Amino acid sequence: MSYVYFETTKIMEDKQKTYHDYVIKDGKFIGKFDEMYTEFNDPWTQSTQPNKYSRMAGIVHIQNFNIKTVLECGSGLGYYADWIHRETQIIPKSVDISAVAIEKAKTLFPHLDFEVVDICTELSKFKDYDCVLFSEIIWYILPDLKEIFNVLKKDFKGKYFLVNQVFYKGTQKYGNEYFTNLKEFINYVPFTLVGQCEATMDKDSTIETSTIFKID
Ligand SMILES: C[S@@+](CC[C@H](N)C(=O)[O-])C[C@H]1O[C@@H](n2cnc3c(N)ncnc32)[C@H](O)[C@@H]1O
Repeated sequence: MSYVYFETTKIMEDKQKTYHDYVIKDGKFIGKFDEMYTEFNDPWTQSTQPNKYSRMAGIVHIQNFNIKTVLECGSGLGYYADWIHRETQIIPKSVDISAVAIEKAKTLFPHLDFEVVDICTELSKFKDYDCVLFSEIIWYILPDLKEIFNVLKKDFKGKYFLVNQVFYKGTQKYGNEYFTNLKEFINYVPFTLVGQCEATMDKDSTIETSTIFKID
């Protein structure tokens, strides 16, 4: 009887978990991306592509700077890769640390190019790409950012660093010691800012941004 009670309680607790619990919980980084993509079909409602201002601005940046090849870091289920492809005809090299996400992306978008990669350790492999796109990934790689900038400086000189990133209207609980808004983020990045876009609606709790830097 007590065993059944324990099992029922555990199932109820598990059911109440959200995908956020696998990523950042109570201001602490968890980073169980494979488990998250196994348990949840559509984390961050990727299939509906929220944050449309910043996603569209990212595509405009690609077009304005005549970028021909893109390394998309943190591609998740691949919906933004598909959107970029539809707008620019570019097939991005889309990489994610989660093998589960990459398997799902390959099934959803078989015409695109996905690979399992930890960008904190394997970025140099992709030095032939014109543009490194960080696609809503910054919060998950904060401790590695400085080293990533060193790799970009060494191996991607003259290329572009494009960042689509949401910031919060006063409710950020994680990473506050790094930056809390676009201005602070721009100051943190050691490259030359060549384009920026910031957008929100009054009903939103977040601010969408897309910035592009020349790596020098
Ligand atoms: C918020 S999701 C963004 C998904 C998609 N780019 C979008 O905007 O809908 C962040 C993604 O970054 C991936 N990620 C986290 N750390 C990573 C790393 N070190 N290397 C590659 N991908 C990583 C996660 O697996 C996750 O799919």
